This record gives sequence, C-alpha cells and structure tokens, in this order.
Amino acid sequence: AAGTLAPPRNTEFALLQDSDLAVFDSILGSGGVITDPHEVDPYNRDWMGKYRGRGRCVLRPRSTAQVSALLRHCSARRLAVVPQGGNTGLVGGSVPVHDEVVLSTGLMTTLLGFDPGSGALTAQAGAVLATLEAAARERGHAMPLDLGASGSCAIGGNVATNAGGIRLLRHGPLHGSVLGLEVVLAGGQVLDLLSSLRKDNTGYDLKQLFIGSEGTLGVITAVAIQCPAASPATSLAYLAVPSFKAAQQAHGVLQAARQNLGELLSAFEFLDRESLEVAKQFLPGARDPLPGSDTVIPYTAQAPFFLVVEIAGSSEQHNAAMLEAFLESTMGEGRVLDGVVAQDSRQAGEIWALREGITEALRHRGAIYKYDLSFRVEEMYGVVGAARERLASAYPSGFLGGGAGSTAGSDTEHALKVVGYGHLGDGNVHLNISAPRYDAGLEALIEPWVYEFTAAHSGSISAEHGLGRMKAPCIGYSKPPEAVRLMRSIKAAFDPQGILNPYKVLPPE
Ligand code: FAD
Ligand code: MLT
Ligand code: ZN
Repeated sequence: AAGTLAPPRNTEFALLQDSDLAVFDSILGSGGVITDPHEVDPYNRDWMGKYRGRGRCVLRPRSTAQVSALLRHCSARRLAVVPQGGNTGLVGGSVPVHDEVVLSTGLMTTLLGFDPGSGALTAQAGAVLATLEAAARERGHAMPLDLGASGSCAIGGNVATNAGGIRLLRHGPLHGSVLGLEVVLAGGQVLDLLSSLRKDNTGYDLKQLFIGSEGTLGVITAVAIQCPAASPATSLAYLAVPSFKAAQQAHGVLQAARQNLGELLSAFEFLDRESLEVAKQFLPGARDPLPGSDTVIPYTAQAPFFLVVEIAGSSEQHNAAMLEAFLESTMGEGRVLDGVVAQDSRQAGEIWALREGITEALRHRGAIYKYDLSFRVEEMYGVVGAARERLASAYPSGFLGGGAGSTAGSDTEHALKVVGYGHLGDGNVHLNISAPRYDAGLEALIEPWVYEFTAAHSGSISAEHGLGRMKAPCIGYSKPPEAVRLMRSIKAAFDPQGILNPYKVLPPE
C-alpha cells in the first residue's frame, strides 16, 4: 500500500558532509544548527508517530536572508530539504523520508506588522497560529482560521497546507484571506509578494501557487493575512441527531440551520458516537455535553451523531435566543433529539475541546489510519459505514485475532475503531481507523479501497490536510493526468533540481 512504504532514495541528491555543516554554522551562528541525534529525533517524527525520517541535521534560521543563504548552498550542493513549521501535519509531509535536511521555521516568529485600518496582519512564517490569534484579538480582530493544532502549528505551515479548520465555513479558504507572501525559492532567490493590498490584478497571482504547495515550491518566510473584525459575541450549541441514513438527515439539519441562522453561522461540525466515546475515554476531564444521555434519555443513548453549531452575531443574548429557537424548532420537527446551548465561555470551551480533541484522543489509542475526504454533503458519511462493513467482514472475530475485538463497539486493546467526524458544513469527513498498531495487512484492506470509493463518489481524497508523503502516489484519484503533468512542469519551473520536499505531493515519475 502507498501510505507507509518509503519510496527509494533519489541517488541524485548529495549526502550531507561535515563541510556542509560548517557552511550552515557560518550562516546561522550558534544554536542555529542542530546535529545531536536526540535533539534531531523529534524533527524526524510526524505528529501521529506514523512516519519517521533519517535526517541528520536541523537548520533554524531567524531571517529571510539566512533562509536564502541556506537554500543557495543546498541548491549548489543538491542537498534535499524539508521545510518544517509546527510539525503538526497529518500526511507525513513535514518530516524527511530519507536523509533530507530539515529547515525549521521555529525561530522565525516575529509579528512584523498590523494595519488597524484594513486588519492586515504580517508575520514571519514560524509564528504560532494561537499567538497570532491573541495578537489579532488584542486589536479587535480575529485570525480567519482556527484548528485544533493552533497552539503548535505555524502560519507558514497553515499556508503551505492550505489548512481549513473549524471556521472555514465563515471565512472561506486561505486562498481568499492570504494577501501576500514572501517566499524563498529553491535556488535562494527571494520572491517578495508580501503586498497587503486587498486588490491587485497585476499578472498571474503567483502567491496562490504556494498556498497548499506543502513545501515543494518554495520556503514561505512571511505571510500577510486579512483578519476580519472580531465578532462581538459567539454562541454554541451541541445537538444529538437521531440517524445518519447516508447523512441526508444531517443535510436537512444544515439546511434548517442555514434558514434559521442565516449569515450568522460560523461553524457546523459533526462527530459520530464512536468519536464521542473515544474522546470521552482518552481526553482527561472530557465531559459529555449532554450528561446522563447514555442512561436517562434512552433515545439520546442511541443517537449516532452529534453536531456543534456556532453562531457569531451582535450580542450573546441575541445569539442565544436564536440558537434556542433553532433548537426548539428542529426538536419539534424530530430532526434533533436533544441539545444544549452553552451557558458561558467555559462550557463552550468544553464542547470545542471535545470536538477538537478527537484527533488527540485517537493518538492515545494507538495507530491511526486517517483519511481526510470531501463529498457532496448528502453523501459524506457513507464512506464511514462502508469502511465499518468492510473491516467487520474482514475481521469477523476481531482484529489481531483478539476475540472480543470489534470494528465499532467495545474498546478492547485489540479492537479496531472506525470513527467519523469533521466539518459538515464543508462536506469534509475525517474517516479515522484506529488500531492498536500499524499493520500492513490492515492498511492493504483500506488502501486503495478508500481512494477508489472516494473517486467513485466524485469526492476528493484530500479535503484539507494535503497529500504529503501519504497520498502523493494517489493524486490521480482526484486529479486528471493533464493536471498532474502541469503540476510537474510548475514544480520544475520553481525547483528544477527537485530539492524541496522530495517524495511529497507529486507521484514518482
Ligand atoms: P508542518 O506540519 O510543519 O508542515 C506541514 C507541511 O507544510 C509540510 O509539507 C511542510 O514541508 C510544509 N511547510 C511548513 N512550513 C512551511 C514553510 N514555511 N514554507 C513552506 N512549506 C512549509 N488541518 C486542517 O486543515 N484543518 C484542521 O482542522 C486541522 N486540525 C488539526 C488538529 C490537530 C490536533 C493536528 C495535529 C493537526 C491538524 N491539522 C488540521 C493538520 C494541519 O495541516 C496542520 O495542523 C497545520 O496546518 C500545519 O502547520 P504546521 O506549522 O504544523 O506545518
Ligand atoms: C479536525 O478536523 O479535527 C482535524 O482536521 C484533525 C483531524 O482530522 O483529526
Ligand atoms: Zn479537519
């Protein structure tokens, strides 16, 4: 299967020499080059513990000029380089496959400017998303994206992956919010596209190519991004929904939400019961937002599906009144079984922690086969049921012959768990197959089946996480050969020697 098998090392790349390290030292000075294997190790491992490279050295520049000098040397020597931000990527894109040099933006964290008139924020690429959010908040604005990894991911990594997250529904993709970028190309040339103008139609919009390029076209060194005015108040509801039936019902709820909540809708997320169970079991202090639902209210105990609906409007009172009315009408119609409107920011925070914590909870459970797919909203959950059926019939007596194992039910250490959650408003389902350990046989059962299923339903095999290493060989499921050929020529134009993040995004020739 494509996922975990490493492609062979490209022997055209040079092997790192002591003389290279001496050049890096002279560019970066003390503390800029890490070679101690223990310190290098975390930069070689991805967030899920699925991929591990063999890079021997990590470069930590502080300035664009240093990035430029480093890449000039790497290009002259034909040394392969992996750009790395917060290393929270979920497709194996941020770590070496073989012995690539890691270029970390970890020390490039300066907030370069904020224009209070336009809300344009400019920062070095390594600035952590949560830090920028706090800076924008202080100035009455908000970052136009938010995601569960905000405490560690960097804005350059967000742009490089075209990260989506929980507020894409409100602010749209980064292709609209990013005003300008500064990028260092593979040969060390600095491409200054750091305009913070709202409108600029002078020729091809090159910055768009770097948004979602996953470190394969250039190293992003600074980002200018449009921060909208912060909403005066947000309110959150958590709802239990009676059935999924290929997600049609959820779509009905979404339509109802759109009718009743209109423009104010700022997030519309879902989790299935299996996701809720994993989160409750593995997140310390996680609480069920509908307490007692498992025991007291029989129908809610069977609710297979939960929604997190956020509205952002003029006042908390007004928002809450709207959410209560929405809840009442949808419950009256039987579309929603039960629900709660968060009474304060603490309760809202707990609900968000539960939804956003599923990823972390799954990591505690063991290995994760993670598929980030998009479909028409009506069809988006079908893949989760299909995966459950497929695995249940492949392992009728449990995974690893564990007897009590099941594909969806009890949490024995041998059991597979198939969970679905994600951004319902955007048609983006996260199908996760949680296993006690990575297993080639299991992987071969899932891939390429999951990609074939997705293509057959006109979906995308990567809605928001990118292709990275995991899905580079699979791009053909979502893009025609002509598009892949054009991508290859764009890659060759920007990085003729292919030294930037090799083995990622594009399939081997
Ligand atoms: P890294 O992981 O370091 O790198 C990711 C990719 O970008 C790599 O290919 C790397 O080479 C490249 N890259 C990094 N920095 C640069 C740079 N300066 N220049 C060029 N290339 C660069 N994603 C979503 O879309 N939506 C979510 O809701 C979401 N939630 C998440 C929740 C959790 C708990 C976790 C762990 C991850 C989540 N992600 C989500 C994955 C998401 O891609 C990353 O969180 C984030 O966008 C990556 O930023 P990073 O700085 O960690 O990048
Ligand atoms: C999310 O929506 O929670 C993120 O994309 C992370 C994940 O898919 O697990
Ligand atoms: Zn997501």
